[in-house]
Amino acid sequence: MKTWRMGSGDPQRNAQGRLCHLLTLEGLRDVEIIELLDTAASFLDLGSRTVKKIPLLRGRTIVNLFYENSTRTRSTFELAAKRLSADVLNMAIASSSVNKGETLLDTVDNLLAMQVDGFILRHSEAGAAHLLARHLGEQAWVVNAGDGQHAHPTQALLDLFTIRHLVGPIHERVVLILGDVLHSRVARSLIQGLSILGCPQIRVLGPRTLVPPELVHLGVHVFQDDRAALEGVDVLYALRMQKERMDVQPLPSLEEYHRRFGLTPERIRLAAPGAVILHPGPMNRGVELTSELADGPQALILDQVTHGLALRMAVLARLAGGSG
Ligand code: NCD
Repeated sequence: MKTWRMGSGDPQRNAQGRLCHLLTLEGLRDVEIIELLDTAASFLDLGSRTVKKIPLLRGRTIVNLFYENSTRTRSTFELAAKRLSADVLNMAIASSSVNKGETLLDTVDNLLAMQVDGFILRHSEAGAAHLLARHLGEQAWVVNAGDGQHAHPTQALLDLFTIRHLVGPIHERVVLILGDVLHSRVARSLIQGLSILGCPQIRVLGPRTLVPPELVHLGVHVFQDDRAALEGVDVLYALRMQKERMDVQPLPSLEEYHRRFGLTPERIRLAAPGAVILHPGPMNRGVELTSELADGPQALILDQVTHGLALRMAVLARLAGGSG
């Protein structure tokens, strides 16, 4: 096995500083993000063609390794790889030898013995994708599809894409992230991405116990009062209460959460005219937002999914060396 000298100890770059895994948005340059968003834009119309396929990654083999539940992320990565003509192996973790005690790295070594080119990894442990990147070196690449509470870079990229494509320049928009920020890898990556692209104001609103106080050191404006938080906001980003990651219940009930922080038609009127609603999914109707808003014209939630497919094509094309 060849050893790999990492450029300045950054596990997602090679010795020349080239991005060769996607683990986090932390440390990415604005031009690198813009390039990915531009590449995604060039793939957007492929979905409306009869033949939804281009030969960019023909002959490559990509493995979906999802140790945690997923609907959107797993299926858009699979479709993204297929639309680029790669072969995709979806590991059924629940029926694999993981249940017999096989470790992540042993599973990966066996897949490497089948000469696969890249991995999409979702794992409940923060740092799992970093561990895999260090293990792989230059044998194969890995995209972090969510590691514990740590990072979810492709979700943040598709969110940035959606804002830039349907709302306007990120350096001119005020963004409010609502809800369970503490347990959200999506929020962590989105805040990094918005900062890199020069968002002038990133706000956060949620129960005191679910908003990490250290966010203020990152320049994030932390609110407890919904009226002040919503005023002048262009993008409302609602998060799910991630009960599976909570040791104690932060609020008496989900009804109480909805009453204090949930998006309702009354609340949204406090935001800037034309404000839009984003949500990474899965959403809980009647908790983080009302059904009326989820299905209304201000919600860009399904556009996010469409954009996620194009964005993931851009990431795969970039890492597999096909373009970008
Ligand atoms: C998110 C996740 O898994 O981190 N979903 C997603 O990838 N679209 C958010 C969540 O689970 O609430």
